[in-house]
Amino acid sequence: MKGVIPKCLGELIVSKFGKDNWKKILKESGLSENTLFMAVQDIDDAAVMKVVETTCRILNITLIQAADAFGEYWVCEFAPKIYSGYYKNKTTTKDFLLAMDAVHQKTTINMAGARPPRFEYEWKSDNTLIMHYKSHRGLIDFLVGLVKGVVKYFKEKHIVTKISDTKVQIVFK
Ligand code: HEM
Repeated sequence: MKGVIPKCLGELIVSKFGKDNWKKILKESGLSENTLFMAVQDIDDAAVMKVVETTCRILNITLIQAADAFGEYWVCEFAPKIYSGYYKNKTTTKDFLLAMDAVHQKTTINMAGARPPRFEYEWKSDNTLIMHYKSHRGLIDFLVGLVKGVVKYFKEKHIVTKISDTKVQIVFK
């Protein structure tokens, strides 16, 4: 997985829980406490998941809480700084989510080794969208956290529910 993901996680933990906790998490994940993740660097998926698991253990939070915190931080704080172009001309959760399949293809086109998730969009009714998640990584809880982050970013109130390991439902209010 691209280093941009653990880089964002590190920034979130340092800002909300302090540098010492982040150092401890790195060390207990078998990495140097001074590890710096570079955005386009390839990191073994298992190593990233180990850091996520250690984060949950040390901060005493569940994977779902970690995924929700990550999703909110990525969408509301981290991505607007480094990927501001993708926020231009998007004024609603719906516009933003519907652009995400193309955004992942575009962002990673020049990143060697990237295997971004793909999304398919199925409208069950006028206000109910199913996002089909296609990835070998099985990070559905992160998808849910990220979608909730988008809802928060646009200050809307839609209902986001995981309905299987490959599907997230969004009911637009
Ligand atoms: C401007 C906003 C965004 C950008 C630029 C972006 C970019 C990226 C990049 C570069 C990766 C790593 C891909 C790889 O290592 O192959 C990634 C992973 C991921 N992104 Fe995004 N992302 C954005 C927002 C979102 C949103 C809003 C969602 C959900 C609706 C999302 C869902 C995911 C998931 C679930 C992964 C984990 C990798 C996987 O499941 O295979 N992203 N994203």
